Amino acid sequence: MTENATMPAATPSAPAPFLIGEAMTGGYGRGADILQGCTIAVERGEIAVIVGPNGAGKSTAMKALFGMLTLRTGRVVLDGEDITTLSPQARVAKGMGFVPQTRNIFPSMTVEENLEMGAFLRRDDLRATMEQIYGLFPILRDKRRQAAGELSGGQRQQVAVGRALMTKPSVLMLDEPTAGVSPIVMDELFDRIIEVSRTGIPILMVEQNARQALEIADKGYVLVQGGNAFTGTGQDLLADPQVRRSFLGG
Ligand SMILES: Nc1ncnc2c1ncn2[C@@H]1O[C@H](COP(=O)(O)OP(=O)(O)O)[C@@H](O)[C@H]1O
Ligand SMILES: [Mg+2]
Repeated sequence: MTENATMPAATPSAPAPFLIGEAMTGGYGRGADILQGCTIAVERGEIAVIVGPNGAGKSTAMKALFGMLTLRTGRVVLDGEDITTLSPQARVAKGMGFVPQTRNIFPSMTVEENLEMGAFLRRDDLRATMEQIYGLFPILRDKRRQAAGELSGGQRQQVAVGRALMTKPSVLMLDEPTAGVSPIVMDELFDRIIEVSRTGIPILMVEQNARQALEIADKGYVLVQGGNAFTGTGQDLLADPQVRRSFLGG
């Protein structure tokens, strides 16, 4: 009897992505299809970034992954489970954290109340998670009694990301987390996002700061008119002459 080590290895199969929206087609209500067969995926341990022109359907793709849009064709699979027909709330319960592009905080509530709201589905003790979030974003601890609407743009984005982390998500989706912040604040936010990803949470994010976002991306998607125009590693896309010319300003 030979040892297992000398046996031929099992046929390797590509690991399934942790989250995938596959061949998604659909739009809003009875309107025209915005998504035209687009596929977006994020693997375990990965930061995936979606870039593309305004109106390309980046936010629509995120909403479709989160269940805010009825797909006409295609499917969404989370950790091997088809979740295409689940409501957004049911997806949160399954481990999806989502920070939408707009209205992602409650401005009249305090920072701490915003974090508590993020955990609306949890019945256990929130304190440890809140401490982790204050560790990640120390300024939020200092400002925890202030109305979130009084904070700077970068601080409000920290509140929004912190709120999503309160559910202890197994995947985090961020739609333009650095919108409207200075380059320095953008760099800091990216550093924090990398830190979150290192805790083992795969991250899928839409970014208008395409070049900087692709620098930190394991995988990048260029979305155009609701479809996949280019897909590759962040470095591949940054080096691609056509991507550079058309989407990165040369
Ligand atoms: N709530 C909505 N109802 C109808 N059409 C929408 C809605 N939101 C976005 N759209 C349309 O979908 C298209 C893609 O928008 P969006 O996904 O927001 O693009 P991006 O995030 O890439 O800038 C646009 O033509 C936009 O006008
Ligand atoms: Mg958008």
